[in-house]
Amino acid sequence: MRVLVVGSGGREHAIVWALAKSPRVTELYCAPGNAGIAQLATCVDVKATDVEGMVAWAKENRMDFVMVAPDDPLAMGMVDALEAAGIPAFGPRKNAAIIESSKAFSKELMRKYQIPTAQYATFTDMEEAIAYILTQGAPIVVKADGLALGKGVTVAATVEEAVAAVREMMADGKFGASGNTVVIEECMTGPEVTVLAFADGEHVVPMPASQDHKRAYDGNQGPNTGGMGAISPVDAYTPEIAQRCVKEIFEPTMAALKAEGRPFKGVIYFGLMLTPTGPKVVEYNARFGDPECQALLIRLETDLMDILEACVAGTLDQIEIQWKPGASCCLVLASGGYPVAYEKGKAISGLDEVENAVVFHAGTAEQDGQIVTNGGRVLGVTATGADMDSAIAAAYASAKPISFEKMHFRSDIGHAF
Ligand code: AMP
Ligand code: GLY
Repeated sequence: MRVLVVGSGGREHAIVWALAKSPRVTELYCAPGNAGIAQLATCVDVKATDVEGMVAWAKENRMDFVMVAPDDPLAMGMVDALEAAGIPAFGPRKNAAIIESSKAFSKELMRKYQIPTAQYATFTDMEEAIAYILTQGAPIVVKADGLALGKGVTVAATVEEAVAAVREMMADGKFGASGNTVVIEECMTGPEVTVLAFADGEHVVPMPASQDHKRAYDGNQGPNTGGMGAISPVDAYTPEIAQRCVKEIFEPTMAALKAEGRPFKGVIYFGLMLTPTGPKVVEYNARFGDPECQALLIRLETDLMDILEACVAGTLDQIEIQWKPGASCCLVLASGGYPVAYEKGKAISGLDEVENAVVFHAGTAEQDGQIVTNGGRVLGVTATGADMDSAIAAAYASAKPISFEKMHFRSDIGHAF
């Protein structure tokens, strides 16, 4: 099969790495890819958000299957466009990807179908939003409605902080059009867990639980990032809680989307909080999370191509998905200053000396035969172990030989919660 993966981060490297192991995938392409992906697939110079360009390239080069990994092309309808051109494509259509691209939509869906989540109200008028905050008090959570690269959320400890966040979004346009509608939510407490699940429109098959580390610095301090590391599985996500989540959240969400005429095929991301009154949804995403994807796919034993096809065909109930027992840890090596301001083009050394881990590239490029940094998150050093402690130890030990100017990483991945 000739397969194209859309995207260029650590998630896409992990997907390409898993697909490269499939005996059925004979030719593998990635658009636009990165320097690590280029070692396993042919990189194609088409932007992930160029829907027309991607469809044209896939058609011209007779792709048998396209895996659309990032949120933006999904929200833009890349899967719909590929299907319309007769190319089988993995990922939700635009009308289902909306569970990520509009928080207001997903909150309404959860309310309508009684899926547990934080109480909330939606506003398009700033003064009304502020008045609501004053009646509710703090702590309280303010969110921009649209895609804001995971940075459109303020968990406000005080009313003043919440009001300032609303003003930034609605008056100052901090997140552009994404901030024209704000969602104001009850503040939940408890451990946060990510559960990614394969979905075929009808059936939902959860992967092992994972946990992201979103803040830039140790002790969960500093600004939110795309994710500084991930582990899988998560102790707090017990078999009892898992069963509750399937019955109260995962299956009802699939049924709700189907009932709304928006059947979800692809990977659905459940951001959960295990609150004192039970598991609740923090957010949905319409794709593999990153870096969670890296920590998960390193443990996947079943052929990923078989799973992706079953999701598209609606036959997920007919395959068995196996995971390597034990645990895994993905440690992100980032550019100093990320997520605010950072430099690119720094030479990376030591990649050849890594043992006992897979190094997924997130933001790298090749310059005159040298691999250099090309993004905020640069590498995801991902290791497995018989238990969590050995997986964490293996990831940190494996990262030791790697260096680049101003390299930054957290030293508490797996120990932060
Ligand atoms: P989101 O972009 O919706 O995932 O939010 C980013 C982060 O904000 C989450 O990972 C949580 O840590 C926090 N958060 C979001 N909503 C709430 C809430 N209702 N209560 C407490 N924390 C929240
Ligand atoms: N790791 C969080 C996300 O991918 O949204």
